[in-house]
Amino acid sequence: MGVHIAGWGSHLPEKIITNHDLAAVMDTSHDWIVERTGIHERRVGEPTSTMAIAAGRKALQSADVGPDEIDLLILATTSTDQVMPSTAATVQAELGLRCGAIDVNAACSGFVYALVQAAGMIELAYRRVLVIGADSLWGWTDQTDRGTAILFADGGGAVVVEGCDDDALLGFDLGCDGTTRHLLYTDHGAKITMEGREIFRRAVRAMVSSSRAALDRAGLGTEDVDWVVPHQANLRIIESAVDKLGLSLERTINVLHRTGNTSAASIPLALVEGVDSGRIQPGDILLLTGFGAGMTWASAVLRWQP
Ligand code: UT7
Repeated sequence: MGVHIAGWGSHLPEKIITNHDLAAVMDTSHDWIVERTGIHERRVGEPTSTMAIAAGRKALQSADVGPDEIDLLILATTSTDQVMPSTAATVQAELGLRCGAIDVNAACSGFVYALVQAAGMIELAYRRVLVIGADSLWGWTDQTDRGTAILFADGGGAVVVEGCDDDALLGFDLGCDGTTRHLLYTDHGAKITMEGREIFRRAVRAMVSSSRAALDRAGLGTEDVDWVVPHQANLRIIESAVDKLGLSLERTINVLHRTGNTSAASIPLALVEGVDSGRIQPGDILLLTGFGAGMTWASAVLRWQP
């Protein structure tokens, strides 16, 4: 049994915070943020469950399946609504699902981790898994800290992963180096702490090596990739990684200029943007690749055959 993506949807909060809004309360500027990150504005102000429910509902509609037809919900998130229960429990109830539901925390790599787990569960037993990536990180930043508040924001994206004969998941790579977990962390009740420069350096390396490993597993080379759908953390990280892979920035799907870094939501937000804008077409080979706190990394090679 193989898998393909049968439906998709995304959601962003209404409230916009521009770089100019940030420059009014901290020592930064619109030009600095754009030049160093590519971010112009970000959406904020909703809890993870609200965004996950909205994105999940759109994905169900787009796949034309009812809540009874989902066999498992996997919610990739770092920013759970509560410590307990899982935010997936809230999403399961609000979407009217009658299946198992779990949160997966692999930070910004979480969506790809969840996608691969969904494929494994379909191989084992199920027909359809709803995979959602949602994070609400704006509230976790110290909103006077120019090192983190300029980056992190809120959003959600979802896909329905469905069993099929012709497998669209051609290869993947999942990894973690827990010895570097001190580079990006949040203690209970505290704000995000990040060593930005070091994360930057390691992120590029992780995306390049993980992308190569996933492509190897798929028996493909970078020349076969039609679109890179990267984690949206910093445009310079994306530029540097695709350059090292021998790919061009024109072949990447980016939403970061208007979303900021939405962690586990960022890859599905970019995927939905690529599909809805008509850039991603049936038959295209997609390389999803990301990294995050842990540090984790994850890549997947998908043939787009909805
Ligand atoms: O999802 C994964 C999570 N995290 C990431 O992916 C983050 C990865 N890291 C980054 O994106 C970048 O490291 C940052 C955007 C956080 C920082 O950019 P940078 O180009 O690495 O800047 P830097 O830390 O090397 O700082 C360069 C200069 C410093 O000034 P001096 O020492 O050269 O005078 C900083 O104090 O820029 C200063 N600076 C700022 N200036 C204006 C740092 N942040 C800001 C700011 N506005 N927001």
